[in-house]
Amino acid sequence: MAVITVDVAGRPYEVRVAAGLLAELVQHCRGRLRKRSVPIVTDRNVHSAWGDVVEAALRDSGHEPHWRILPPGEATKSWDELSATVNWLLAQEVERGDHILALGGGVIGDLTGFAAAIVKRGCHFIQLPTTLLAQVDSSVGGKTAINTPAGKNLVGAFHQPSLVLADLAVLDTLPERELLAGYAEVVKYGLIGDADFFSWCDTNGPAMLAGDPALREYAVAHSVAHKARIVAEDERETSGTRALLNLGHTFGHALEAETGFSDRLLHGEAVALGMVLAARFSARVGLLSRSSANHVADHFASVGLPSQLSGLGLACDGQALAAHMLHDKKMDAGQLPFVLMKGIGEAFIARDVELSEVAKFLDEELEA
Ligand code: NAD
Ligand code: GLY
Repeated sequence: MAVITVDVAGRPYEVRVAAGLLAELVQHCRGRLRKRSVPIVTDRNVHSAWGDVVEAALRDSGHEPHWRILPPGEATKSWDELSATVNWLLAQEVERGDHILALGGGVIGDLTGFAAAIVKRGCHFIQLPTTLLAQVDSSVGGKTAINTPAGKNLVGAFHQPSLVLADLAVLDTLPERELLAGYAEVVKYGLIGDADFFSWCDTNGPAMLAGDPALREYAVAHSVAHKARIVAEDERETSGTRALLNLGHTFGHALEAETGFSDRLLHGEAVALGMVLAARFSARVGLLSRSSANHVADHFASVGLPSQLSGLGLACDGQALAAHMLHDKKMDAGQLPFVLMKGIGEAFIARDVELSEVAKFLDEELEA
């Protein structure tokens, strides 16, 4: 088992990574499940696949699980589901010292974490991430949020979990498309600050995706360790370090917005293409070599992730995509910071990018 500590000031917590952690849930949560009754929020798909394992683990140790099973999908990160979940937690008589379990992907983790942040002004929660994306990114670092009609993740809180148990066994039931989407966030750590890890992905990515257990543990633990270092340095995204994790996200969010935040383009797929666009834009303005930008695109293409904007078949122009970026929550005094690349493993924040230049670049990419 790999154990990574996220050293946030005053509230350090562990991320444990191994196969079989859900079956040993109570042992890992020792001391945290104070009452017989344990509230668990999940979605229907995850409950079908892993509900029995968690139910048995809790009941075998004398606990009584209380499930809140939500519809799967991004639409669940809504005011309505938040409000109903908060009311449900209050009906469960959850106290500040109790721990709520969040069993699912980023949707369940973000919603449950936000509910935990506001119920009784903050109670504890434990992340049990069941997608690769949630294991390497969303379950770690304490960003919680819901979506509103004005945009994605616009209402939320920083609220760190008390523990994260990343059970690698859950990846066996994850649809392949979701696994690939999570892989984009794994590669991101290589691209932002770890060229050796990007090389590791080149060599081992396909076998890891195919299910090699040792490679999976390495990929998840290495990604989590990278994120943990960033979060410990810049928990609230104020110094610029944590903002590096947004590589590919500004372009990606525009693509998600244009495709209606739908199954047409999953978040991780948008981030993969967004990272290709960030690399190509960096090359266009002379920061990155063309061969490095092509290397990034070729890597994503080789595993089956989107790597060509023209391949999406969008019926819009570059200006329309750039317009979506204006609603980005990273806008700062009218300027949108972009994460660009000087090399593989050398991402940085650029604060002088003109959106009109981005729109022109996107027009070229839409026609390429
Ligand atoms: P998701 O939670 O929607 O899960 C994807 C799909 O896989 C769902 O249909 C789900 O039911 C299913 N699923 C999950 N685990 C499964 C399993 N083990 N077996 C079978 N099916 C399973 O999507 P996601 O990609 O995990 O998360 C995306 C969300 O995460 C977005 O809302 C995004 O904004 C958010 N996010 C948050 C952060 C953060 O720092 N908080 C970071 C990145 C992304
Ligand atoms: N996923 C970006 C962050 O946690 O900051």
